[in-house]
Amino acid sequence: MENSSNHSQNAHVGNVKTITYQKNSISGTTDTAYFKISVFSTEVIRVQVNKFSQFYPNPYSVIKDQNIDTNIEIKKSDGQSIIATDKLEVVINHQPFHIKFNDQSGQILNEDDESFSISWLGTEVTNYKKLQPNEKFIGLGEKTGNLDRSGAAYTNWNTDYFAYGVGDDPLYMSIPFYMGVLENRAYGIFFDNTHKSIFNFGASNRRFMYYSADDGDMDYYFIHDDSVADIISHYTSLTGRMELPPKWALGFQQCRYSYYPESEVLTLANTFRDKKMPADVIYLDIHHMEKYKVFTFDGEKFPNPQQMIQSLKEKGFRVVVIMDPGIKVEKGYDPYDDGKANDLFIKFPDGEDYEGQVWPGWCTFPDFTMEKTRKWWGEKMKFYKDAGVDGYWTDMNEPASWGQFTPNLINFDYEGEQVSHRKARNIYGMQMAKAAKEGSEKQNPKERPFVLTRAGFSGVQRYAAAWTGDNVSTDAHMLAGIRLVNSLGISGVSFAGYDIGGFAGEASKGLFARWMSIAAFAPLFRAHSMINSNDAEPWAFGEEVEEISRNYMKLRYQLLPTIYSYFYKSAMTGQSIATSLAIPYSFDKKIYSGAYQNQYLFCDSFLIAPVESFKEITKVYLPEGDWYYFYDDKKYIGKNEIYVDCPLSYLPVFVKAGAVFTMQSSIQHTADQNDGHLHVHVYAGKVEQNFVHYEDDGISLSHLKGEYLKRNIIWNSAKKKLHFESTEGNYVSDFHTIVIHLHGFSDSDIQIDQQSYTTHLGDFAFLDKLTDFDPLPDHSHPHLKIKELISFTIPYQAEDFTIQF
Ligand code: NOJ
Repeated sequence: MENSSNHSQNAHVGNVKTITYQKNSISGTTDTAYFKISVFSTEVIRVQVNKFSQFYPNPYSVIKDQNIDTNIEIKKSDGQSIIATDKLEVVINHQPFHIKFNDQSGQILNEDDESFSISWLGTEVTNYKKLQPNEKFIGLGEKTGNLDRSGAAYTNWNTDYFAYGVGDDPLYMSIPFYMGVLENRAYGIFFDNTHKSIFNFGASNRRFMYYSADDGDMDYYFIHDDSVADIISHYTSLTGRMELPPKWALGFQQCRYSYYPESEVLTLANTFRDKKMPADVIYLDIHHMEKYKVFTFDGEKFPNPQQMIQSLKEKGFRVVVIMDPGIKVEKGYDPYDDGKANDLFIKFPDGEDYEGQVWPGWCTFPDFTMEKTRKWWGEKMKFYKDAGVDGYWTDMNEPASWGQFTPNLINFDYEGEQVSHRKARNIYGMQMAKAAKEGSEKQNPKERPFVLTRAGFSGVQRYAAAWTGDNVSTDAHMLAGIRLVNSLGISGVSFAGYDIGGFAGEASKGLFARWMSIAAFAPLFRAHSMINSNDAEPWAFGEEVEEISRNYMKLRYQLLPTIYSYFYKSAMTGQSIATSLAIPYSFDKKIYSGAYQNQYLFCDSFLIAPVESFKEITKVYLPEGDWYYFYDDKKYIGKNEIYVDCPLSYLPVFVKAGAVFTMQSSIQHTADQNDGHLHVHVYAGKVEQNFVHYEDDGISLSHLKGEYLKRNIIWNSAKKKLHFESTEGNYVSDFHTIVIHLHGFSDSDIQIDQQSYTTHLGDFAFLDKLTDFDPLPDHSHPHLKIKELISFTIPYQAEDFTIQF
């Protein structure tokens, strides 16, 4: 093995020279490096290799400790050391050092390229992995391109990218976690290194995939379990999970760059209410500030922010303000003076503050990689809290500055390590989001925070929701955004969305309508558009678009009991809410094809088939199982490609056979009272489904002290039993009556055990009929009337009960 001392050539890690066996790890030296392989848990192995005798700490992403009590077996021989856990086997070959991971049955999952395994080119460290037959790659968070990333390469370097192209890279957020999917098994790798990194999934070569970083340790976590979902669960147990957000953040959010003055904001709010288009959030973009200076209001545009926000609150709106990191260099401006006096800004190595240009002009940048700065920022947020602001939007936190090329020599604290921009850039945005979240908690300890961030790194889900930045008003962008959000969901960031209608450019009527209908099934439901663009509120595109938008907004709010329950599930398990089909159907090759890669499950029950606005008919792939067309309950057999009509008013949506979900009456905002009826929809099918219905007050932290209601609703199709387990927790349900809607049953199927349940042929419609824009006028609208739907009503009961059909 060549170990070149010439920095212009590849230098390989070499042969193992010494090796020590500890309780749950193996460490040692090679010709050129130090290594440590630790059993983190039964399913997670950590590999660390560098050229120094100590490994660098990674203070940001991983928040879980190694479980040193994991049951393992170590086998030693001259040529190899093998560590076996109950789930996987790690074979460490000594000559030269290279690692192979097998599953517990000995089938290969992943192996280093023997010649290059871990190598250096100067300070750049790389791990080369052999490409396995038909290996597919998914994940890596906010990355454009195909669902299966094979053949593509990506850079992780948080970048402000206005109006990016649908194939462009890098964007704003870096998540160096991916999964490899083989014939019938999968693994995940999280490369915990915040330097600029590259993931090459077999681009321009067919020998290996690799991941490399400009500098720092080769430090990765190898994860294996039975399914992709389980692997995500381990990844999110390492890097953390979203906390349950306030319910209002799940409602419709209206943004634009920018709404001002005050009267325009109030008119906007009134228009939503007048038009009966449900909505919860209004954003104040950069024009709310005086000369774009953070922690100020423009006194002319917003003479009385407190009063304005109070009046919005009375109408059921919450206000989210933008916060950019750049602090205007201006003596007499308190955040500048104070930040400088407290030495909180990032600096050149000679101690002079770094200054870059952003909206306010020349700015300094708080060092969010320092606890002291984060606290300081949180204290400054009192300014917004006093005005009544409830949510925070951390933008430009890559950090962005005009010229878009921050010099690398700038110094950051990095929790005391003192590092350059090369190591700190990718983590900066996440730490700003952390400052905003903790600031919100400090200022308003009784309510859950909501932070929306543009930049981030692995673990950002603990602090904020994410949106995909400055997209463009095109069909291709609409579909690309769906893949970005699905990929974020694969990568632990389940609360994510895109600017509905596109930020840059002008959406056509059709595009806006389609985008609204799809986004109603996105975790974050937010419309936004650029300065100097046409109006882009859901009523700005004419009556037809308004009606279509209203229909899907109403549907979103009716589905909130389900959506909130899935947010709860995601907070508990780290699982996605918009779920790429690569998670539940990982080994079905069809789902990776270009035609179907945008499809996803929303809240597990709904298969969403996004389609361009100009198409009237589209092909949909229904994976294994049976499926019901959402609007008329027509049943389809899975593992099938079908053609579906897709007029703008009907986004192709299918419900999984066997599904159970809950709905409520139409409301205008999330804190609006429903009519007390919990609609439980049950779909005939062969699978048994356990739907976990979850409620709490939607805003406070009392759910953490038992003030919640959780109830398993189990539908066993084979036994024809619908079982409501007793409720758990102290929260008193928002509902007093249960209405059960049975889909896919015929009249003769139904014999309900108790006399009191009298059924009738239901006429539940998920959407209102459009007034003058019915796409199918001659058919008395077959989409709307659900046939063979049987409904019945029972009083709400908290105790366990079963309905036997
Ligand atoms: C860039 C953000 O991506 C965009 O959403 C925002 O409107 C502008 N900055 C102005 O604040």
